[in-house]
Amino acid sequence: MIRHLPFSALALPLLASSAWAQATPATLKAAAEAVGLNIGIATNSFNVSNSAYATQAKNFNMVVCENEMKFDNTEGPIGTFKYNGGDAVSKFAADNGMKMRGHTFIWHSQSNTAQSAVKDRTSGLKVMRDHITAVGGHFKEKIYEWDVLNEITADGSGGLRGSFWRNNIGDDFGDSAFVIARRAVGENGYLYYNDYGADGVNTKSTSMLNLAKKWIAAGIPIDGIGLQSHLSAGIRKDDISANIKRFGEQNLRISMTEIDIKNATATDWSNLMTACLENFNCVSFVTWGLSDQNSWIGSNCGCLLFSGSSPTPKTNFIQALIDAMGKADPAIVAKRKEFAARKPGSVVGINRANLINTRKSPAGGLLGAASVPVFSVGGNTVVDAMGRNRPIAPNSPWASGLSIIAK
Ligand code: G3I
Repeated sequence: MIRHLPFSALALPLLASSAWAQATPATLKAAAEAVGLNIGIATNSFNVSNSAYATQAKNFNMVVCENEMKFDNTEGPIGTFKYNGGDAVSKFAADNGMKMRGHTFIWHSQSNTAQSAVKDRTSGLKVMRDHITAVGGHFKEKIYEWDVLNEITADGSGGLRGSFWRNNIGDDFGDSAFVIARRAVGENGYLYYNDYGADGVNTKSTSMLNLAKKWIAAGIPIDGIGLQSHLSAGIRKDDISANIKRFGEQNLRISMTEIDIKNATATDWSNLMTACLENFNCVSFVTWGLSDQNSWIGSNCGCLLFSGSSPTPKTNFIQALIDAMGKADPAIVAKRKEFAARKPGSVVGINRANLINTRKSPAGGLLGAASVPVFSVGGNTVVDAMGRNRPIAPNSPWASGLSIIAK
């Protein structure tokens, strides 16, 4: 029965008729590796323990937990951590030589235990610090890309979305999240801000670009932007490509993190892949599920690369992706491979001393149980997480809950 064959076997006869069959790898994973791209799926621990599913999932080289590494799934009640879902998926990834994304530390949704514990800036920073430190510390050697922040920009007019994180901590909550994450995972992973509705050039993606520029100028350790890519048929390749390009001008990685294309055609898949491949900084292409059967949109979405529970490959869509990768510009491929190999923290640089001593305060007097790192510039001033110069003065209202880290 054809449905039980891996799609690598199915791809071969299709390729044999193409002009460049000799040079183009026959499988989705091999084609992606040839162009320096991570190709992935969102999954769940109950999926990877199913052998028919696992057989097809191995055709990808990256996974991400669809739900099991979110706040409510890893910490609840506050201070009690559980990692079983993420551990099972990360074991599957390790056993099969796959990279893994970490989704997600700070989000307004699926974070009920956080929401009830966050009452003001100090408790917000403490909950944030404790969560990222524990979950990041547990998974740090297993995760290649972390969604530190998820969906923090408002729809429509741009600017930050109202959320319990922002409303209690302040507009710099994202800055602290990145700083804490870098300290928690060391140099083990790339740190991302991930959002939807920002795939092409629009008000929201422009707002995100401006935020990223502000972070970079302030030394906030961002590495990349996740474009969720929840899309519908009629993919606008040039618009998406132009958007990715402007983030590349800031040396920011782009990962397409949650791709699904409602009622897609093979041309849509090809166009989306090409928009990525046209840019050296597009490093990961991850679909939000393996099969339509598993999609959050519904099993009749026509939005993923497989269908049914077995699951069955949509060979025309997969072949369209392989074909698009076969046409990638070799110069951009070479640049992508060099860019992707840069270490985490390369955009703003890492003060490695800061990664080890997490609690030291040269000024003294400002540490507390809720301490959160900010950067010291020496003398009598520090730079806070927003990059603002602040005088060192015990009991300063702005310093509540912060510890000062020597630069
Ligand atoms: O686990 C419970 C289960 O115990 C209970 O019986 C069942 C009853 O409805 O619910 C289960 O939880 C569901 C969970 O998925 C796991 O299946 C939640 O109700 C449901 O809301 C949750 O939906 C997830 C959604 O995020 C939550 O906002 C989707 O699976 C997941 O695909 C979706 O993913 C998000 C990304 O994280 C961020 N970007 C958007 C994307 C799509 O919404």
